[in-house]
Amino acid sequence: MSLEFQAEIAPLFEPFALRSLSLANRVVMAPMTRGFSPSGVPGKDVAGYYARRADCGLIITEGVGVDHPAALGGSGVDGDNAPHMYGRCALEGWRAVVDTVHAAGGKIMPQLWHQGVMREMGTGPHPEVETVRPSGVWGPLDRTAMVTPEYLSNVAAKPGRAMTDEEVVDVIEGFARSARYAMDVGFDGIAIHGAHGYMVDDFLWDGTNSRTDRWGGDHIGRAAFAVELVKAIRREIGLEPVINFRFSQWKQQDVRARLAETPGQLGEILGPIADAGVDIFDGSQRYFDKAEFEGSSLNLAGWAKKLTGKAAQTVGGVGLSSGVYDSKRTGGSDAARENIANVAQRLARGEFDLVGVGRAIMHDPAWVGRVQRGEELLPFAEASRFVLT
Ligand SMILES: Cc1cc2nc3c(=O)[nH]c(=O)nc-3n(C[C@H](O)[C@H](O)[C@H](O)COP(=O)(O)O)c2cc1C
Repeated sequence: MSLEFQAEIAPLFEPFALRSLSLANRVVMAPMTRGFSPSGVPGKDVAGYYARRADCGLIITEGVGVDHPAALGGSGVDGDNAPHMYGRCALEGWRAVVDTVHAAGGKIMPQLWHQGVMREMGTGPHPEVETVRPSGVWGPLDRTAMVTPEYLSNVAAKPGRAMTDEEVVDVIEGFARSARYAMDVGFDGIAIHGAHGYMVDDFLWDGTNSRTDRWGGDHIGRAAFAVELVKAIRREIGLEPVINFRFSQWKQQDVRARLAETPGQLGEILGPIADAGVDIFDGSQRYFDKAEFEGSSLNLAGWAKKLTGKAAQTVGGVGLSSGVYDSKRTGGSDAARENIANVAQRLARGEFDLVGVGRAIMHDPAWVGRVQRGEELLPFAEASRFVLT
């Protein structure tokens, strides 16, 4: 790669600091479910997997189940053996993961996850417990391109009941406890999975939340769960640790879904969540270079930063030639080079502060160093979607 290219991408390799969090560069390994933690306990292989990627400025782990019995299970899209953030064995496992990543010079946050409506009844660490859904529904059943027919009939179409107020509070408390445990074992901050149709997003989205109590109503009312969740986590972990909050317009139930039709609405949703204590908004898009609203080239992360004044992280197809879940995933140096230069330009313009990279880094642990040194990038192979190394 040329010297010109290296100059273009230099903004990616600037350090980033926010209170006690200091990152060597702007590349964040995006959270990616793996299913390599039998009984929810991450082992040495998980530690090695993340440590090999420690040259990312920050690693956000795969989704990690919070301390709530219905947090995890088969979800149609993600596999079994997801890790969790509670219990002595799992927490010891995470302490070893964190220590190994730190010893390799990296920084790491866990992505706290509750599958919400997506969880398949009768599966996961507590198969006996009911799946919890804000309004009893999985979402509209006519826009289900991303799930299998089996999942559609076994999970999505199965009727449920709306959560009680007590059940809502239980989930919030489960997140807060797991955040505390995560800080106790040495993580560098907390990432919250508030996207893609899982629990936090189930409250944000009208396709899964038709409640009329304090957890529902219009888009502002539907943000109350996220607001209380972030406040509860802040109460547990204090003001210093950085909280990263992932959100998305798209859902696995409906890739065309939108939480906000206008920047004004997005501001009304994110503003109170920011005030509750979020430091970084991770705007999850399938393509980082897709403008979110007409009349501006800003992407979702760009709008989050502009509207809240908080730091923002983008993601979606960086380092590849196409976005996640497309059938065409070729990648390789030429396509990737254009993407990387584009994302670095936007970063330099201050549109966002951090750049999430998922599949390219899952596939190639040496990706960050390879980009920085200007080496050729490996072609992306779909077969390596859930890599062992
Ligand atoms: C195998 C796989 C697992 C994923 N698991 C998660 C997850 O646990 N939590 C999450 O927020 N996003 C998850 N994602 C989405 C990624 O974090 C990321 O947003 C997406 O892959 C787009 O980035 P990319 O084009 O660089 O891969 C997953 C994506 C893939 C491919």
